[in-house]
Amino acid sequence: MKSNIIVCKNHQEASLRAAELTSDVIARTPHLTATFAAGNTPLDCYRELLRRQKEEGLLLDRARYIGLDEWVGLGPNDAGSCFAIMNPNYYLPADIPVENIYAFDGLTSNLDVEAARMQETLSRYPLDLAVLGIGVNGHVGFNEPGIPTTGDFSLVSLSESTQTVGRKYFAGNSTPTEGATITLQALKRAKTVVIIATGANKREAVSTILSGSDQLPAGAFLDHPGAIYVLDEDAAGQEKR
Ligand code: F6R
Repeated sequence: MKSNIIVCKNHQEASLRAAELTSDVIARTPHLTATFAAGNTPLDCYRELLRRQKEEGLLLDRARYIGLDEWVGLGPNDAGSCFAIMNPNYYLPADIPVENIYAFDGLTSNLDVEAARMQETLSRYPLDLAVLGIGVNGHVGFNEPGIPTTGDFSLVSLSESTQTVGRKYFAGNSTPTEGATITLQALKRAKTVVIIATGANKREAVSTILSGSDQLPAGAFLDHPGAIYVLDEDAAGQEKR
């Protein structure tokens, strides 16, 4: 197995390990620009970062955060939007000043102008750190398999799989069909990339990635010198120790 792949016993251990890697970067980078995935997987990692902030003085609030992705048609207060997940689980409890959070507004009346604003933000503040999850179909952010993106920030048509899996966030309401995302091209320029995948439902995507295939967007970091995949045994398909 490649050296930039860590397999932990379970989700909790993987979350702690990811938080350790992330907090090392946060602690040593004064003017950090980061992007953090929403979704369920990294929430325990964020909880550990918040604990380190409270108990160990980790300086989460001096960094700048650029939203990784958003569902088109959903705003910051809409349940299930990426911002609505990040805000109560990280930005608010970490006391991140609003002027240090740059997020795509899925309710914008002009998608192209809003995407251009995000593109400009990424040019002004290149990413130092990305904390990513992996979709069941192998996406990262909303970089979907086989769906091209352009530039550093792109609008995308969401795959059937993402729309189906996305229903878990929307409590019965219809799932958007379009998304907006930081592209692989921009994510690959981040100095450190921590990719977390836990649970048996990620096993198929992880197995394709570990086979070295470049078919899946989440495999794009295998040769990145600053990328680390943090898996649990269920996602890695390993027998329990
Ligand atoms: C969300 C995001 C997505 C998720 C992925 C996994 O901001 O970037 O790529 O990381 O869909 O979602 P969970 O963690 O809910 O399984």
